[in-house]
Amino acid sequence: MCGIVGYVGARPACTVVVDGLRRLEYRGYDSAGVAVVADDEVRVVKRAGKLTNLTKALAELPPADRMRAAVSGIGHTRWATHGAPTDRNAHPHASADGRVAVIHNGIIENFARLRDELEAAGVELASDTDSEVVAHLLAAELARTAVPAGVGAGAAAVAAGGAAVGGRGTADEVAAPVGAGALDDGTAGALEDGAAGTGLVAAMRAVCARLTGAFTLLAVSVDEPGLVVGARRNSPLVVGVGAGEYFLASDVSAFIEHTRDAVELGQDQVVAITADGYQVTDFAGTPAVTQQYHVDWDAGAAEKGGYDYFMLKEIAEQPKAVADTLRGRLTEAGEITLDEVRLSDQDLRDVDKIFIVACGTAYHAGLVAKYAIEHWTRIPCEVELASEFRYRDPVLDRSTLVVAISQSGETMDTIMALRHAKVQKARVLAISNTNGSTIPRESDAVLYTHAGPEVAVASTKAFLTQLVACYLVGLHLAQVRGIKYADEVAAVVAQLTAMPSKVDEVLAIMEPVRELGRSLGSAPSVLFIGRHVGYPVALEGALKLKELAYMHAEGFAAGELKHGPIALIDNGTPVICVLPSPRGRAVLHDKMISNIQEVRARGARVVAIAEEGDTAVAPHADHVVYVPRTPTLLAPLVTTVPLQVLAAEIATTRGHDVDQPRNLAKSVTVE
Ligand code: F6R
Repeated sequence: MCGIVGYVGARPACTVVVDGLRRLEYRGYDSAGVAVVADDEVRVVKRAGKLTNLTKALAELPPADRMRAAVSGIGHTRWATHGAPTDRNAHPHASADGRVAVIHNGIIENFARLRDELEAAGVELASDTDSEVVAHLLAAELARTAVPAGVGAGAAAVAAGGAAVGGRGTADEVAAPVGAGALDDGTAGALEDGAAGTGLVAAMRAVCARLTGAFTLLAVSVDEPGLVVGARRNSPLVVGVGAGEYFLASDVSAFIEHTRDAVELGQDQVVAITADGYQVTDFAGTPAVTQQYHVDWDAGAAEKGGYDYFMLKEIAEQPKAVADTLRGRLTEAGEITLDEVRLSDQDLRDVDKIFIVACGTAYHAGLVAKYAIEHWTRIPCEVELASEFRYRDPVLDRSTLVVAISQSGETMDTIMALRHAKVQKARVLAISNTNGSTIPRESDAVLYTHAGPEVAVASTKAFLTQLVACYLVGLHLAQVRGIKYADEVAAVVAQLTAMPSKVDEVLAIMEPVRELGRSLGSAPSVLFIGRHVGYPVALEGALKLKELAYMHAEGFAAGELKHGPIALIDNGTPVICVLPSPRGRAVLHDKMISNIQEVRARGARVVAIAEEGDTAVAPHADHVVYVPRTPTLLAPLVTTVPLQVLAAEIATTRGHDVDQPRNLAKSVTVE
């Protein structure tokens, strides 16, 4: 949700920043803009609409324009919260004196009060955003703490009321390298300007202390051309550590082609980068301990690789993503080893209740997990929409395990749910695809999915790997606790190893599904029904279709149809039916056949997703998509795939960009 990039180094900052924005565009594509310091000026170029509008505007600059040569800059791609997606609301926002520019991801909750204060002081705001106030506040803070000619910064810091331990002196000195060589031991060195002081770093700290809400901020100032300052609270920000160049970004994909060494910022921290290093402090100026890590995928993983859309590539990558998530976690003896789950066996034996909290597709993974976990462990398991969880006063204690599922690890609703759980003393286990992101960092334990970068906004391979991670957690709990289904659990462990090739088999037979998709493009509404784990799969199929094709689509538990939704069925309404195995769940299978007959009798066009060898369904369906035989609880790993392919095909038939559906963003960092 909003992509942010900052750069300082020897290369042209505009180019580096725009390349980074291209990789972050999935986070928001309502507008884009850049700001650089060139020739004693902060230069801003920004445009409403997709990044191409910005790149066209930049291409029109004269070849000798100094903006092209600037070596530090910031850039933003926006998912609109406050203010329509127009040029004037696009970021960066400049201060009224033009000396500072700011970009922001998140929501500043007290912006109205701050805006009133600025307006009372005579500042005219140029946009409808909550973000712009930060530019003016920074400018005011810089003016307030400016060092009069000939006066040392220590005096200025005292004048600013800060407990400065040293001063940086003049603006020129402030622009000198910060943090050079401070990284050898993984800790940031003490800032030269202490807890308060002058310059952009100190101003950023002072302003952040006044903000409420969620924010990642980056700023540049005309007085400190070799410096980009960032700050974060409740929104992500990561430092890219290069050789003679440093980056700031919402996620590592923005700079992965330049460096795979990164440092994740913690809550309420301020970072300063120059060409020589970086330094991190808290908002009071106390140096922070940071940890550098190496990203284990490369730029190629975040490229389309010959596919028209990232989503199609990511669907095709699912066998590998499932295999990678299983790798090293299953032993030949049928045991689950989850070394990175930092909860002892005793902790896991003490669990008497599980809550899964998640949003959207991740929530659907949680719904599937409930069937598996309750069956294997006999521990009651509830699945909650993270956005509702903390508002309904759930009953939690030390013996409760809260499983927070999040691909990005940055979803604000899920972060707030896990924080609520921690306050109630529950133990929190994160399932996430993003190393070092907020949700894993704030949890007691983490199980990473290894889907690789998911760029398309609609989640596909992350969903399958979330299912795998949930199965692993359920099986591990069952083994640790020694339950009565021990034989079944051992068998499932073996069956899991076969899943990558089963997903591969499904992908190989998708052409008829694409053909079907092309014929459904004009349907006014599509319904999805299923029973047991087929029900969350139906919900996921409907979500994919809604978000990609902008069609009315709904998923239902098939047994619920007769309680109301069946009234939606009209002549020709497509109904996608996810059938359970006739071998594993014969009773449920028979009931699904009855439900299919009910909708067909009312004119529905029935598409069945059924197991190979299920001969009973064909006479009742207009189309049958067969998937390989799979144990019931693992079936969503194969039954979801045709629904992803179907949604992508319907959406492209209707002329939509499946990577960047309207109104959406990949990482939802506001509540
Ligand atoms: C839908 C989709 C979203 C996400 C949801 C949670 O295709 O991608 O519904 O699943 O926003 O995101 P994470 O998993 O990052 O917390």
